[in-house]
Amino acid sequence: MVKAVVAGAAGGIGQPLSLLLKLSPLVDELVLYDVVNTPGVAADLSHISSNAKVAGYLPADSGVKTAFKDADVIVIPAGVPRKPGMTRDDLFNINAGIVKGLIEAAAEVAPKAFILVISNPVNSTVPITAEVLRNKKIFNAQRVFGVTTLDIVRAETFVAEIAGKSTPQGLTVPVIGGHSGETIVPLFSQVTPKVTIPDDKYDALVHRVQFGGDEVVKAKDGLGSATLSMAYAGYRFTEKLLKAIKGAKGLVEPSYVYLPGIPGGKEIAEKVGVDFFSVPIELGPNGAEKAVDVLGDLTAKEKTLLEAAIKGLKGNIEKGVTFANQPPQQKL
Ligand code: 2OP
Repeated sequence: MVKAVVAGAAGGIGQPLSLLLKLSPLVDELVLYDVVNTPGVAADLSHISSNAKVAGYLPADSGVKTAFKDADVIVIPAGVPRKPGMTRDDLFNINAGIVKGLIEAAAEVAPKAFILVISNPVNSTVPITAEVLRNKKIFNAQRVFGVTTLDIVRAETFVAEIAGKSTPQGLTVPVIGGHSGETIVPLFSQVTPKVTIPDDKYDALVHRVQFGGDEVVKAKDGLGSATLSMAYAGYRFTEKLLKAIKGAKGLVEPSYVYLPGIPGGKEIAEKVGVDFFSVPIELGPNGAEKAVDVLGDLTAKEKTLLEAAIKGLKGNIEKGVTFANQPPQQKL
C-alpha cells in the first residue's frame, strides 16, 4: 500500500500533479492537503475510476497531521509562484515558512516518508527541510529530494529541437547544480545518445535551460509560473521513485540532495564545495542509493558554468540553513 500526499494540492501545480498521481497505478491512497479547496479537489478526483482512494484536508482540526500520518511519499508544491521580474529567491520570505511548517508536521507523523520538495526557491527550501529534520534527529538524506526534473525535461525538449530529434524523451540530458538561473548547469557534452550542438547555438541553449521558467512567467503575464510542466516533472520524479521503491532497477534521475548523506555523494560534495547539489541519483528501495559523479569529463565551458553555479548556491544554501535554525519569532 502506497500513501502519497500532495501538500499544496489546490494550487496551480498541486491540482494537475494530484490528477497525475490519481491516474498512477503505483498509488493506493492519495491525500490532498492545502489551506483552501482540498475537499473540492478531492471530491472531483475521487470520481475518476482509477484505483487510488482520495481524501482532502484543510488546516482545521490538525488537518495537516491527519493528511501526513504514515505517508510513504509527501510531495510539496505549496507556496506562492513568481510574477514577472521576480527570481525564485524573491519567494523565500513566504515559502520558507510554509515549507518549514509542513516539514515539522511531517517529522511528527510521517518521520520515514520520502519528501519531494518542489516549493521555490528549491536551492534554499531543501536545506530548510534537511535542517528541520536534522534538528529533530530524524534526517535521512536518502529520503529528501529537491525536484529539479523540470530542468531536465526542458533540456530534453530544447536539445531535441536543436538536434532535430523527434523523440525528446529518448534523450538523457544530465543537468546538475541547483534549480534557479545560473545555478542550473546542463551538461550537453554528456547527452546520450550523443548530439552535436552547433557552437553558435550553445550559449542560447544554455540560457534557455537556465531561464526557461522565466519564459513561462513572462507568457503568463502576472498569473504565475510553470504549473503544468512542473506538475508533469514532479509526477515523473515521484513515479520513478515509487517504481524504484518497489524494486525496479536502473532508475536514475538528477535531484537536488544533501550529498554527504548519500553513498558516493561525499566525494562529489568535496569537489564542488557545497553539500546541497543536484547530480544524477540512482534510485532504489532506500530512496537515493547512489550519487553519480559526472564531473570528470566537463568541457571548459561547462567548468565555467559550474563555477558560477557553485557561487550562487553557497548563498542560497546558507540562507535556508540560517532560516531553519532561527528561533521562532516572538509575537508582540
Ligand atoms: C520552474 O522552473 C516553477 O520552478 C519552476 O518554472
